[in-house]
Amino acid sequence: MLSRILVIIGSVRPNRICPVIAEWVASVGREILPAEFEIVDLRDWPLPMDVEPSIPATGDYRTDLTKAWSEKIAGGDAVVFVSPQYNWGYPAALKNALDHLYREWAGKPAMIVTYGGHGGGKCAAQLHQVLSGLKMKPVETMPGFTLSRARIEANAGKVDPVTEFAEGRSTLERAFGELGRS
Ligand SMILES: Cc1cc2nc3c(=O)[nH]c(=O)nc-3n(C[C@H](O)[C@H](O)[C@H](O)COP(=O)(O)O)c2cc1C
Repeated sequence: MLSRILVIIGSVRPNRICPVIAEWVASVGREILPAEFEIVDLRDWPLPMDVEPSIPATGDYRTDLTKAWSEKIAGGDAVVFVSPQYNWGYPAALKNALDHLYREWAGKPAMIVTYGGHGGGKCAAQLHQVLSGLKMKPVETMPGFTLSRARIEANAGKVDPVTEFAEGRSTLERAFGELGRS
């Protein structure tokens, strides 16, 4: 049984909408699974790209921040990734956070939630491939939420998932169901 689920906020930029979406995703998850949900904001984890000399799969971490990141991810039973689509992929900050570790991800059930002008399906596909490379177990259903052009152009850091993503909520519930059974 999954008792602790980490929900990772994949965007770190100013004006981001990811935190609101991640909070909503976690709230839906809490309704469906009897687990503790913890939001993990990558903005709180400014992991440098150029300081760890060893290959992460060795677990030979030199910096306190990488060691703390390792403990944070090791402490979760499953991970929900909430990510915007950036240029058909996912944010560099998320790739960097993934690449800092290896064993901590391996074997964990995962869920991919994306958003973008067309739901972020291309981002989801890329993330699915990388998580599989990390030996995670992504659930089949990958909810993708569509942002209107006006919402993207406003870039105001605001979105109301409860009303704007209402149609896709059942997909999110299905994905959480799969996560709970994994
Ligand atoms: C660098 C960058 C690249 C983007 N590329 C895409 C894209 O390929 N497809 C898409 O639908 N939206 C794209 N967008 C628009 C985002 O979906 C939109 O800005 C969204 O709010 C980003 O999530 P965030 O605010 O949480 O960072 C892009 C935005 C940024 C900042």
